[in-house]
Amino acid sequence: MNKRMLSGIKPSGDLNIGGYSGSLSQFVANQHDYECFFFIPDLHAITVYQDPKELHQRSRDLAALYIAAGIDPNKATIFLQSQVSAHAELSWLLESQAHFGELSRMTQFKDKSEGKDTVSSALFTYPVLMAADILLYQATHVPVGDDQKQHVELTRDLAARFNNKYGKTFVIPEPVIQETGARIMGLDDPTNKMSKSNPNQNSYVLLLDDPAVIRKKFSRAVTDSDMCVRYDWDTKPEVSNLIEIYSVFSGESIPAIEKQYEGQGYGAFKKGLAEAVIAKLEPIQKTYHEIINSKDLDDILKDGAVRANEAAQVTLQAAKRAMGFVTF
Ligand code: TYM
Repeated sequence: MNKRMLSGIKPSGDLNIGGYSGSLSQFVANQHDYECFFFIPDLHAITVYQDPKELHQRSRDLAALYIAAGIDPNKATIFLQSQVSAHAELSWLLESQAHFGELSRMTQFKDKSEGKDTVSSALFTYPVLMAADILLYQATHVPVGDDQKQHVELTRDLAARFNNKYGKTFVIPEPVIQETGARIMGLDDPTNKMSKSNPNQNSYVLLLDDPAVIRKKFSRAVTDSDMCVRYDWDTKPEVSNLIEIYSVFSGESIPAIEKQYEGQGYGAFKKGLAEAVIAKLEPIQKTYHEIINSKDLDDILKDGAVRANEAAQVTLQAAKRAMGFVTF
């Protein structure tokens, strides 16, 4: 069986180093071992209100960042979800298989809806659209951060349920979650996932932050009073989070980082961390600025949409036939 990888990052906020660590860096690292589909799940973004201009800009930004980070558009198919209508169509077919109870148990839905007066029905059914994204391309592997694992598990359940009822139609995908960097926490609070929706701008570092801003944010990151660079989530969550970031961005192992900063205070460690992140981001930012307004970017996305449509239609038609819809 061909190994196929599919994943995406929502354009609902500017990309931060958590998303880079949990997903984009994985796309880049795996692209030569799989047939890859990396997309911008723009339909997912509208589960909560998006300013139209910002949605437009962020969708292009993300595509440019995929390429700037090293995804080769000649090898991987890069596309915008809203350009491939099969996603919305398969999502509807799969909604007929999803149970109200299991969707109610999705922790992300619970977190995002808690305390809100009104919640869009799209926020509730969103994991089914994610299942459609994955199953349409018969993806065998789905690289994600820790918080998306539950959605990939739901995808597996829906695929198996559909296959049992209508005959084998979908490949059952595996989540790919790396050991280090799958859950980067806020720089202000190691109990909260690093997220752009945090009102405290010092809690996250964006991929497009200036070096001076990155240095400032890391210098303000919370630590503890023990002054020892040691990896231990139980007793030192703040420092452990920073060590994980360091490891992802420098490529060095956690023990090597502990050894390098043995006997030194947090000042030197935070400076080294900032420089490791800047060293990785500077070339990405440079390429991003070169391509963001280029026609090449549009051409890559147009070409990606054609290729994605072709692959998606094969599965969509198979699913429709299996369910008894008249197809020609
Ligand atoms: P999204 O857009 O919230 O996040 C994109 C990816 O980045 C990972 N991530 C993190 N990893 C580590 N630490 C963090 N602080 C961090 N923040 C985000 C996420 O786990 C995710 O892998 N529903 C998805 C997008 C999606 C998708 C798909 C993914 C839609 N369809 C199909 C894979 C396959 C989402 O909202 O991710």
